[in-house]
Amino acid sequence: MNTGKGSDEKNRSKPGPESSAKEVSRASLPDWNSIYREMNIEDMPWYLPELDPDLKTALEEYQINSGSFLDLGTGPGTQAIELSKRGFEVTGVDISVDAIRKAQKLTQQVTFIQDDILNPRINRQFDFIFDRGCFHIIDRDKRTVYLSEVLKLLNEDGMFFLKCFSDKNPDTGYGPYHISREMIDSLFNKHFNILKIEDSIYQSISSQQNKTLFVVMKKKNI
Ligand SMILES: C[S@@+](CC[C@H](N)C(=O)[O-])C[C@H]1O[C@@H](n2cnc3c(N)ncnc32)[C@H](O)[C@@H]1O
Repeated sequence: MNTGKGSDEKNRSKPGPESSAKEVSRASLPDWNSIYREMNIEDMPWYLPELDPDLKTALEEYQINSGSFLDLGTGPGTQAIELSKRGFEVTGVDISVDAIRKAQKLTQQVTFIQDDILNPRINRQFDFIFDRGCFHIIDRDKRTVYLSEVLKLLNEDGMFFLKCFSDKNPDTGYGPYHISREMIDSLFNKHFNILKIEDSIYQSISSQQNKTLFVVMKKKNI
């Protein structure tokens, strides 16, 4: 996956919850449908056939082994499938209908639905949400929309696991936003208890080891 910086960030003078002064942004949105239509999922730079190691560790640490999981921006569906193998009741959503069609062919144990997190049709709540690589491609001015939709989809006391590119990546001129700890704090702190933010990498088949933040949050009762 590519990373980088867009010129709009340089012109921003007052970073709010949607942004951060240190944050580096991508230049343009990929066409997710054509990516999933034209590429084999195994060749995608984010493809990881096993459960994300940071999520695996967190599930062990917090002794989570049952409940409902939403895999947000499920893409190839591997994370959803691995969670379902561990006994969770899993739904995977993705904006790309081609991603969903491909994922549906891999298993009957996961409910895969085409949906847009910024305007979701899905109308239920989950005990846990995992976002591995979706939040960091959401437009900065849509982050508060993303937050409010995630809150609606999460049960009381629900937990949210987030993996996104961090601002420790070098500036290459394109790719997902590079997210700082300050940005995570300013956006999520009001509605979540942030249990941990760790520096990690985006484990995948790609030789590029992009730096990430892995965040574990618990919804506040407010
Ligand atoms: C970098 S990929 C990560 C896929 C998967 N989570 C993984 O780790 O293999 C990001 C995914 O987010 C999806 N996506 C982008 N914008 C979205 C949106 N607004 N709502 C739902 N999914 C979205 C893309 O189609 C893509 O599959």
